Amino acid sequence: MEIAKNNFELNDLLQNINGNLGFVPTMGSLHEGHISLIESSKKLFDNTVVSIFVNPTQFGPGEDFEKYPRNENNDIAVLKRHKVDLLYLPSASDVYPNDYAPISFTSPLTNKLEGALRPGHFDGVIQVVYRLLSLVNPDGIFLGKKDAQQLKILSLMIDQLTLPVKVHACEIIRENNGLALSSRNAYLSKNDKVSASTIYKGLLSAKAEFRSGSLDTEVVTAAFIDSIDPSIIKNIDYVSIVDQATFTPTNGSINSDALMLVAVRFGSTRLIDNIELTI
Ligand code: PAJ
Repeated sequence: MEIAKNNFELNDLLQNINGNLGFVPTMGSLHEGHISLIESSKKLFDNTVVSIFVNPTQFGPGEDFEKYPRNENNDIAVLKRHKVDLLYLPSASDVYPNDYAPISFTSPLTNKLEGALRPGHFDGVIQVVYRLLSLVNPDGIFLGKKDAQQLKILSLMIDQLTLPVKVHACEIIRENNGLALSSRNAYLSKNDKVSASTIYKGLLSAKAEFRSGSLDTEVVTAAFIDSIDPSIIKNIDYVSIVDQATFTPTNGSINSDALMLVAVRFGSTRLIDNIELTI
């Protein structure tokens, strides 16, 4: 595996690559969720490039930028084991040089759900992914459905700016107990992890309720609430059912393919998860 530590090395190494390119942007501290994106890219593309960059602009003041888990040596070993072709490990000045003008793409979706609770978060995600795409210039980008709103916003950006890259959306990878893998799970205590595993049970109950013919938003939402650990109900930031295509909240009856999105707080750690409600 080649490693590019700055843009000069990246350009050099990209010039020597033959064939098409799949790209997996990450913030490191890699887990099986990231690996599944990498393996999907390897199946579809001749070359796979992974980036690791803990992007400061997507963290708000008081968020966990400083303490975000960083495991560079371990990540490099994992990526070598999975035979990634190129790892891009930029510094902040590679991604955001002094003379860099931010792109002006935005969407009303950036202020909803996660965006309402993390002002500016998606603007930071838009900036970094746009910049990484312009530096790496891949044919495909691999993104996880775990971050469903991020996936939607980035797909809109790529579509509306007609960027020449295809989005590949990858399924959510979970622990055996259902907890969606996340680098932030490292912050959780043993007890929190047990409570957190009921989030997926709640999502499955909601889906079962929906599939049994309940189309009412409130009834399906209640099925979620009734199945999670009661001690975390007060810590729910949101539980929302949205139309999958537009991300607008369903009102009353769920009439189209939908997505149930949840965010739950464990102390200062926020976990997000979601499930597709399709017939
Ligand atoms: P990060 O949290 O490191 O996630 C990198 C990619 O892995 C994202 O596309 C995310 O959706 C995916 N992912 C994370 N956990 C997953 C899981 N359990 N199953 C499947 N995929 C999973 O998301 C980011 O970084 C950043 O916002 C980034 C896009 C890199 C921009 O900085």
